[in-house]
Amino acid sequence: MTPGRWSRHDILDVDDWSREEFEMVLSTTEAMREVLDRPIKRTPVLRGKTVVLFFAEASTRTRVSFELAAKALSADVVNITSSGSSVEKGESLLDSVRTLQALGGDVIVLRHGSSGAPYFVADRVEASVVNAGDGWHAHPSQALLDAFTLRARLGTLSNKTVAIVGDVLHSRVARSNVHALRALGAEVVLCGPPTLLPAAWRCGHAPAGVRVETDLGRALEGVDAVMALRLQKERMSAGLLPSTREYARVWGITEARLAVTKPGAPVLHPGPLNEGVEIAAAVARGPRAVIEEQVTNGVAVRMALLYLLAGTEVPD
Ligand code: CP
Repeated sequence: MTPGRWSRHDILDVDDWSREEFEMVLSTTEAMREVLDRPIKRTPVLRGKTVVLFFAEASTRTRVSFELAAKALSADVVNITSSGSSVEKGESLLDSVRTLQALGGDVIVLRHGSSGAPYFVADRVEASVVNAGDGWHAHPSQALLDAFTLRARLGTLSNKTVAIVGDVLHSRVARSNVHALRALGAEVVLCGPPTLLPAAWRCGHAPAGVRVETDLGRALEGVDAVMALRLQKERMSAGLLPSTREYARVWGITEARLAVTKPGAPVLHPGPLNEGVEIAAAVARGPRAVIEEQVTNGVAVRMALLYLLAGTEVPD
């Protein structure tokens, strides 16, 4: 594996990726896992490069794992959030990013509440841009770490079925996962209240290989894996749910509801969790949960992405 075979300048979504591109990231992630298993978790492939983490929206997992990933690759890392930066004085997103580039940023990792913000920036700067989650739209590195985690558990995604349950409408994680899972050969079942499913998908226009259900029992029947999604109340207008308690009763993932999946089907959640709402505490902390594996794999996946975009050497 050398970064020379990688042709993309930015990582904005995975919606137009080829199977080969997914395989390249997943196999590079395997190599990065080996780096992380060493006593000294460092490889010099990004020595002399600067990775800027610009998070204009809250994050724990994505921000910290990109930081750990960049440091493990020996890059210099700069962290910036809207709060405490000149964004508070009215500086535009583009001026902020151009400033960060002028200060030496080679890769800009951007999280933003507006869908499309990373595309807007990527068209206007020379640095590589990585989308760390934009509005309702896409979260490519999350989909890649989910795919890596599922493959580690299931061996392959070909001819497997993954149920994604919850607030699909507001979920950039669900959207990117649909593309990744389909490209890697899986079928997808999307399940949630009708008000939290994209209207076109609910009305017969879902992508090929994607089934939409509002009944959780039907959605979970015989699936190989389950992904619970957080209720994104911060993105909801009023009136989409009768009540959180009602939602938990009808669509919450509990041990009893999981009885109809394939035996031992793993349960994923991108985090942060609302325990007792979209997922019962007993499931989140139970033997099927791979939530911490997802978080751990996130570092290796993000190392792979940064390496493919900006790496200058093969990892030693
Ligand atoms: N999954 C995810 O994006 O988590 P954070 O918001 O904590 O980064």
